[in-house]
Amino acid sequence: MRLGRRRLGIGRVALWAALALPALAIAGRWTLTPADYGFGHAIKQSGDWAAWLLLATLAVTPARLALGTRPFTRWLGIRRRDLGVASFAYAALHTAIYLADKAGIVAILAEARGVDLLTGWLALVLFAPLAITSNDRSVRALKRRWKGLHRLVYPAAVLVFVHWALTAFDPRTAYGHIAILAAIETVRIALQYRQRVT
Ligand code: HEM
Repeated sequence: MRLGRRRLGIGRVALWAALALPALAIAGRWTLTPADYGFGHAIKQSGDWAAWLLLATLAVTPARLALGTRPFTRWLGIRRRDLGVASFAYAALHTAIYLADKAGIVAILAEARGVDLLTGWLALVLFAPLAITSNDRSVRALKRRWKGLHRLVYPAAVLVFVHWALTAFDPRTAYGHIAILAAIETVRIALQYRQRVT
């Protein structure tokens, strides 16, 4: 048991080290090669990582239902909250990069009126309570309400992908990811219905 816990601890540290690598790459390239890699690259890549980690988080439940109980799927289930928190951390970094580039609150509020950025802001607002309550203490305190609260991830995901389609230079990449999101959710709902779980 003690060995199992220790292994889990090392696995979690390794996971977070891996999750931090894209952020280090963004910061490193922006600092070391500012002529080739600037604001546009940093905001795009931080947004991409936030969305990819969100897809990975949403894929955990269908993967577990499809593959059954194995060490890897159990590990994924335990670490799903870490993936969700990492997605939020990249979304926060992405927003911080955006805010640092803006001249002031007037410009930020004016741009927030457009559907392209309003959807981003709304997604961030929905994700914040999920990231804050992604820990054992909140699961225990909120009991059954925890699951209900965390269902907000679905409308938040829809907002993220609308935001992506409306802001991307080439929306075809966003459409491809929307198709992946739809496939993940279709498999999840079908397997939950067949296996009679919620
Ligand atoms: C959960 C929150 C968010 C996620 C997951 C997210 C994700 C993304 C993604 C995937 C893109 C497209 C990147 C690409 O072209 O490949 C993007 C673009 C963009 N996002 Fe967000 N976003 C979020 C919130 C926000 C917020 C709050 C703002 C600030 C208002 C913002 C500002 C932008 C801007 C300005 C772009 C266009 C970047 C460009 O010029 O290519 N996003 N976002």
